[in-house]
Amino acid sequence: MSIQGLVDARLVLVTGKGGTGKSSVAAALGRLSAERGRRTVVVEIDVMQTSMPGLLGRTPEYAPRPVAPHLDVCNVTWAHALEEWLEQAIPVQRVVKLILRNRLVELFLDATPGVREIVILSRVATLCERYDQVVVDLPASGHAIALLQVPWVADDLLHDGPIHQRAGELIALLGRPDTRPCVVVLPEELVVNETLELCEGLARVAPVLAPPVLLLNQAAAPSLAEDERVLLERIAAVVDPASAAGELAAAGRWEADLERATAQALERLSTLGRPVVQFPRLGALGGFQGGPEAVVRQLARALARELAIPTGGEP
Ligand SMILES: Nc1ncnc2c1ncn2[C@@H]1O[C@H](COP(=O)(O)OP(=O)(O)O)[C@@H](O)[C@H]1O
Ligand SMILES: [Mg+2]
Repeated sequence: MSIQGLVDARLVLVTGKGGTGKSSVAAALGRLSAERGRRTVVVEIDVMQTSMPGLLGRTPEYAPRPVAPHLDVCNVTWAHALEEWLEQAIPVQRVVKLILRNRLVELFLDATPGVREIVILSRVATLCERYDQVVVDLPASGHAIALLQVPWVADDLLHDGPIHQRAGELIALLGRPDTRPCVVVLPEELVVNETLELCEGLARVAPVLAPPVLLLNQAAAPSLAEDERVLLERIAAVVDPASAAGELAAAGRWEADLERATAQALERLSTLGRPVVQFPRLGALGGFQGGPEAVVRQLARALARELAIPTGGEP
């Protein structure tokens, strides 16, 4: 049910703490949508360091470029988005160029809070008109909140004009039932803490936004029984850690720790009353050799399987 909402959405907003796997999840959701025949674009937001070459095999530019059938990738850079915004507002190309070259205008834009965010979100809104699905790889937690709250701030501060009008349109877009947030989380105490704050923050600053689907990445399903755990500890205590048996015992204990951490994370996340989709940590034994693109493909496969399985919780 929960994944279905993400797959059917027009606009998917992926966020979470840094390093949780946000970009991989955004790329995987994009792949899944494209494989289902929907015209899809995966969007980075004004990033200096793009993740997409490793995940989807191409460096994104402002204009969307194809990476697979039905799948494009792009980077919403502020300077380009501003130029596009001005071109829509001012039909005379020469005047747009003059404005963009004017140092005072630059200072004004840098000093006016919210313009940047409105212009960037406007570009996302434009992409929503051109694609069946737009998957946005949002910045990490606090930065995502700062970006998403701007339409409300602008709506409060300004009472007319193009920015006020655009803010209203963006609020409407964020509130659409086919706009869905997805929060990526790891089974680690600090990450879970930040995730709980993030979900609370999203509900506060963007009240019309649907509650997020939670994706617990790098999780481990319970597989070890209590007596197996005890046995592992006993073996680990007596074997030479450098021996093959020692390495196996260490891997077993690592698995046991991850299973425990996963159970604790699920317990704490359950307070949000939202469905939690789990994805395993790849490469528990000896490291995963497939690289980031293979992680994305396996994630997309796992999400597709998830579509066939009811996950419980609210839709
Ligand atoms: N479930 C997983 N198993 C193994 N490696 C993973 C998994 N999820 C993500 N990774 C790897 O972790 C790294 C960070 O992922 P990324 O999607 O770039 O995170 P973020 O965008 O949140 O910073 C990447 O190298 C990615 O391949
Ligand atoms: Mg990233």
